[in-house]
Amino acid sequence: MPKNILIAIAWPYANAEIHVGNITGSHLPGDIVARYHRLKGNDVLMVSGTDSHGTPVTLRADAEGKPVEEVYKAYHDGFLELFQGLGITYDLFTTTHTENHFKVAQSIFLALKDNGFLYPEIRPQWYSPSAGKFLPDRYVEGTCYICGAEDARSDQCDNCGNVLEPEKLINPHAKTGDALELRDTEHFFLDLSKLEPDVADFLRARQHYMRDTVLGESLRKIESEGLKPRPITRDLDWGIPVPVEGWEGKCLYVWFEAVIGYLSAAIEWAAVNDTPERWEDWWTNPEARAFYFIGKDNIFFHTALWPAELMGAGERFVEIFAEEEGKELTLPYDVPANQFMNLEKQKISGSKNWAVWGRDALSRYDPDALRYYLTVNMPESRDTDWDWDEFIARNNNELVATWGNLVNRVLSFTFKNWDGLVPTPQELRPADEEILATIEEGFGKAGELLERVKLRAALNQAMHLAQEVNKYLDAAAPWFEIKSDKEAAGTTLYTALRAIDSLKVIFAPFLPFASQQLHSDLGYTEPLFGEQYIEKRADSLGEHSVLRYKAGDASGRWAVSTLEAGQALQKPKPLFKKLEPGLAEEERARLG
Ligand code: MF3
Ligand code: ZN
Repeated sequence: MPKNILIAIAWPYANAEIHVGNITGSHLPGDIVARYHRLKGNDVLMVSGTDSHGTPVTLRADAEGKPVEEVYKAYHDGFLELFQGLGITYDLFTTTHTENHFKVAQSIFLALKDNGFLYPEIRPQWYSPSAGKFLPDRYVEGTCYICGAEDARSDQCDNCGNVLEPEKLINPHAKTGDALELRDTEHFFLDLSKLEPDVADFLRARQHYMRDTVLGESLRKIESEGLKPRPITRDLDWGIPVPVEGWEGKCLYVWFEAVIGYLSAAIEWAAVNDTPERWEDWWTNPEARAFYFIGKDNIFFHTALWPAELMGAGERFVEIFAEEEGKELTLPYDVPANQFMNLEKQKISGSKNWAVWGRDALSRYDPDALRYYLTVNMPESRDTDWDWDEFIARNNNELVATWGNLVNRVLSFTFKNWDGLVPTPQELRPADEEILATIEEGFGKAGELLERVKLRAALNQAMHLAQEVNKYLDAAAPWFEIKSDKEAAGTTLYTALRAIDSLKVIFAPFLPFASQQLHSDLGYTEPLFGEQYIEKRADSLGEHSVLRYKAGDASGRWAVSTLEAGQALQKPKPLFKKLEPGLAEEERARLG
């Protein structure tokens, strides 16, 4: 029975380009796991989209002096281009600014309200008399009253990670330079304290496999401090209107609604595929597994806020939205949040241009070269560092010298000496059997690591297997064998071809472009994976583009090679390019 696997990836704010830290933090690990499950024959749905609302985006539009709608779309279009180029295979990458998302988010809100988890309360908030409006969240900065950090935002301090009460901020000042005063305003609060026991139970039930950096942090915090009610509406006009009469001019808080995107994107995906009910295969199916790929700054929202919304609204939401009774919404199965990636020993900073931007890097390097380095260096358990010298060294010494060279040696030698056909082997010798058995075991080992989202270890495992095949080949030395016994050399190459054909599959989640090339060089015509494309869509909120994925027939391919003697090979081309060490200096000169 194929399993339903939901791959949910953090929605990037439409206020900056995506850099290598974002890619290795969430998009790439999500894609690797999605591709693995597709190869296993599971039913994968991988979704995300642009987080188009909230003060991060409106502040950016103010800074650029452009309408927010235009600004969000410009970043969004850049994201689509990047994901397509890098092979991040979203089944749907959409945006939060769609009619569908508005409707789903409002329905979750109403379901929570029906279930008694929302209440209105009047609280003071920073107001700008000159602008004639409230300035929530990132519009106001000041000193954190908990840890003393000077650059806290009025709603949250990034230094100590606490949610702040705006009126307690020390030395508050508006980003816009406006004078500020406190005024009362009414907002809806999500009563997280009522949902706290459920959230804590949910986390405890996942103790055995969630990363300690993720689970420990959330559970310890909840056990020691509890969950407090949080305001989930704001005085803003760019966003999703609060669906309650008399609440005109107020919007849902960006975090409250962005996480709902995981659900609304599945609903949109099902609708655009003309299978409008299929979102339920992932969302109301108790067997479905949902993996959330996020950075460490998003942990609370995915381990506490989102599960609380799902538990508080689930059944009622399905009732109002799909008119079905007694169905709950799927809770996260795993939240393999990553730590951060720095750049040349400093924190990545967009505003200081201390960043390697995804699209820019893709204009000079192959996607698999980037994917490789971003995986071997993925911040799974601690912060890591992008280092240009290391990028080049790993590309040259591992990708090119180990895997690329192995493939190249085997394919070129066979192509030249066996008329471009897979040789017919004699009976396999113990060494041949042994290497094939080692590779076969590799499927199990790598697969287990991929299922537990230990991607660095899984890729190391694949690279280790490539070394083993290199050793096998060096020992058998078919280039000498051929002089005295062509049949024996043919047996060696047949074995080596089978081995690289298998390794191609184990590498495929990580290096999909190289695996596809090897796949066709080996003479296969059906592609390994499906196709990505950008499509324009329109609804009552306007036009927006989405990235879609047309599934290929990857199912059942996570298995050892069955390559047959006599199959016609294609003239091989190198899989990877060697990089000049001098490039590191050039790249560093672009920073800052
Ligand atoms: N936009 C947020 C960020 O970049 C992430 C949102 S994840 C979501 O930090 F699921 F909530 F959308
Ligand atoms: Zn603080």
